Amino acid sequence: MSKIEVVEVGPRDGFQSVKCAPPIATELKLDVIDQLVSAGVKHMEYTSFVSPKAIPQLADSKAVTEAVLKKYPGLDLFALVPNLRGAQNAYELGLRKVCYVVSLSKSHNKANINRTHEQSLDAYKEIRSAYPDLNIVVDLATTFGCPFEGKYNDPQAVVDFLKDYIDAGMTTCCLCDTIGIADPAQVKAVIGALKAAYPTLNLQVHFHDTRGLGMVNTMAAIESGITEVQSALGGLGGCPFAPGASGNLSTEDMIWMLNEMGYETGIEFSKVLAAAKYQASHIPGNYSGHHIHIEQETPCKF
Ligand code: COA
Ligand code: ZN
Repeated sequence: MSKIEVVEVGPRDGFQSVKCAPPIATELKLDVIDQLVSAGVKHMEYTSFVSPKAIPQLADSKAVTEAVLKKYPGLDLFALVPNLRGAQNAYELGLRKVCYVVSLSKSHNKANINRTHEQSLDAYKEIRSAYPDLNIVVDLATTFGCPFEGKYNDPQAVVDFLKDYIDAGMTTCCLCDTIGIADPAQVKAVIGALKAAYPTLNLQVHFHDTRGLGMVNTMAAIESGITEVQSALGGLGGCPFAPGASGNLSTEDMIWMLNEMGYETGIEFSKVLAAAKYQASHIPGNYSGHHIHIEQETPCKF
């Protein structure tokens, strides 16, 4: 069976959604990250360089970055940046990979990063020219539908939107289902259209589990040839600027499925489940994961 690269985004997409005061302690975040690495996670979006007013939980991005770059030099680590300033802050700390977020939806782009599509494209080009050796994944938020505009039905619109980014040098794009509104047929249609239009573009997927479809949408993507999939520990998460965006696809549930199916993930289920349970018991939040609620792993007697 083939290899699937699992990209853990909980320390960014999960932690950003937590409403608690005082904020989650940096040490606790590093503890969770450590458990993820011990479970075999090799790719991780671990924080954001954004306005602390917009996302107070990630105000410690500098301290987290310094710690993880020192501790895990060989790991594929990256952080979200919304603008040149975020990229500069990340770069100056030694980070050489980021994801840059833009929404297919004009209204969500405005609500999330306060920009028009034109301004977002300009800022992307600005970052690329300021830091040519920075690896930038483009996160296309609301690829499948928007909290304000509804579900999208035209895969060609995704193809058309990304053309400017392709022309500006994008090599990897992550298709993000910000509000968990995608369905498997739509996922296959969008990926099919993108692969036909841009055969060399590397694609990742990022599904939320709002309607319980995170897993089947991920499988639909894998069946369409995608080998890099994102998920968040415990299923913690949701964009604070997308009403109704409850819960990410949970890493441990997805790992269980992929490992059971014989895919090579390199991640040990029991360890990642222990990390999820640890996180859920220490950090309050919106957990959509299923395994964290199972008391013991022995088969039930009917
Ligand atoms: N890092 C830290 N602070 C930043 C920043 C960055 N990358 N970019 C801007 N700021 C600060 C500014 O200094 C300013 O601070 P002040 O109010 O103390 O003067 C404030 O943020 C607003 O800056 P401005 O340039 O006017 O931007 P804005 O108000 O249009 O906000 C963003 C734009 C992108 C900075 C802000 O909306 C943001 O950080 N959003 C986060 C989006 C996000 O992470 N969403 C979830 C994931 S998809
Ligand atoms: Zn998300």
